[in-house]
Amino acid sequence: MPRWHLNILVTAAVFAWGLTVQGALAQTDSFARRSRWLPWPGSLTAGLTRRAKEFQRSTKDAEERFWVGLGAVVFRAPTVLGLEARRIGMTCETCHGGGDANRRFFLAGLSSKPRTVDLTSAVFRRANDDGRFNPIRIPSLRGIAATAPYGHRGRFATLRAITRHVIVDEFAGKPPAPKVMRALIAYLRVLKPVPNRLLDPAGRLTRAASDQARRGQAMFTKTWPGARGRSCASCHRPARAFTDGKAHDVGTGGRIETPSLLGAALGGPFMHDGRFERLDQAAGHYANIAGRVLTPRQRGELVAFLHEVGAAEGADEPITLAADLARVGSAVAILALTLKRKEPTLAGLVVVTVRRDIGRIHDRFPGAGHTQARRRLVRWSRLLQLVARAAEKKAFTRARSALAKSLVAGRDATAALSRTAATSLYDPVRLKAFLAARRN
Ligand code: HEC
Ligand code: HEC
Repeated sequence: MPRWHLNILVTAAVFAWGLTVQGALAQTDSFARRSRWLPWPGSLTAGLTRRAKEFQRSTKDAEERFWVGLGAVVFRAPTVLGLEARRIGMTCETCHGGGDANRRFFLAGLSSKPRTVDLTSAVFRRANDDGRFNPIRIPSLRGIAATAPYGHRGRFATLRAITRHVIVDEFAGKPPAPKVMRALIAYLRVLKPVPNRLLDPAGRLTRAASDQARRGQAMFTKTWPGARGRSCASCHRPARAFTDGKAHDVGTGGRIETPSLLGAALGGPFMHDGRFERLDQAAGHYANIAGRVLTPRQRGELVAFLHEVGAAEGADEPITLAADLARVGSAVAILALTLKRKEPTLAGLVVVTVRRDIGRIHDRFPGAGHTQARRRLVRWSRLLQLVARAAEKKAFTRARSALAKSLVAGRDATAALSRTAATSLYDPVRLKAFLAARRN
């Protein structure tokens, strides 16, 4: 077995948008082995067949497009975080795939429920340990450019500050090189919320909204007695993505930054520690502390409003061979640009990432019927490795010619994959059967 593939098996947990086939197979509830994220029971196949869709603000500027494209690669690069995170194949994408929160993320020992993680433990960085089991919810990063400050307590003023904090303090990574940082920030800045036709740009319901939600809107924006002259909208400001960018004590454990309510209809858990499963519980919370008793009907209206504000139709997409190949294709285009700019380190980073992407495709083509397809993938991956090696020696002409060869190999691989794609594990039915057979 080629070494690069062995690596993929060993670090099996590389979890792109939730989990990989290999990761899913490695069922274990022992945190001591600590090698896999366990998907919540029942969501196993789902996590391998659909993923969060990425929404980007488009940019005309070619220079910015380069940094955004590179940032998308860095976001899933296996070498950015610290040692322990790397060992288990963790990247930004593990927790924030597609710019959303990974709603299936569950790491035994660190999670209390899906989509939560205790980052103040000794696992990734010993100095972080606060001696308590206090997991927090993984936030969505969609629309993050508009919702400063960052972190659930709002301690970080800029994307740069929180990103550095995540990499260095939380996951014990080396301080990222300025260009790597620039790329990540450029990428984070273009992540958009899921388009919602029920809301206008000022955060008011449009005509497409329901009457029930409209009544909820009136309640949301009206000042309540007992709330010190506040309405829900004073903190969840409609024109500002339903947050005010300030931390308040609403009785959930100190001052917490008001969360945006966009995308909330995709599901919880809600509040910074994920204490509530349902939106109506979260909605009722402030009414309770403001001493206001809502009738069931009013509660229904308020929740209907929140559901329409938080609506996120089309927020996920099927995982297909075409989509995975397109991702590789975009990354290879970025690779070409890093060579043009004579950036060996960035080229190396892209190659490591692309080879892992290819490894994941490889995982979906098991068995004798796919030998050809796998061989072509291996060849493609090796040629990409040569690109990185040549770049590292600053032999850019050689690197470019290796890249040209790898493009041909990539086309060959794509053709071979397409021929047998119908019987690969991109097919949800086959995937399900495959996983079931392995589990028994
Ligand atoms: C193990 C899961 C995990 C990984 C991996 C991870 N994050 Fe996060 N991220 C979180 C959690 C949990 C928070 C909430 C932290 C807090 O509130 O203090 C967070 C918060 C953030 C925020 C601030 C969001 C906000 O609205 O305040 C940004 C930006 C972010 N992460 C970016 C990244 C980037 C970039 C990477 C990769 C370098 C990354 N994260 C890797 C779990 C993760
Ligand atoms: C004083 C400011 C303030 C007011 C007023 C307020 N909220 Fe909040 N809201 C917050 C904060 C802060 C949190 C986060 C608490 C936490 O995470 O522990 C929150 C959380 C929420 C959440 C959960 C969102 C999520 O993603 O977890 C919902 C839903 C919500 N509020 C709805 C409402 C409604 C409805 C009202 C009016 C009845 C309201 N809020 C009034 C500050 C406020």
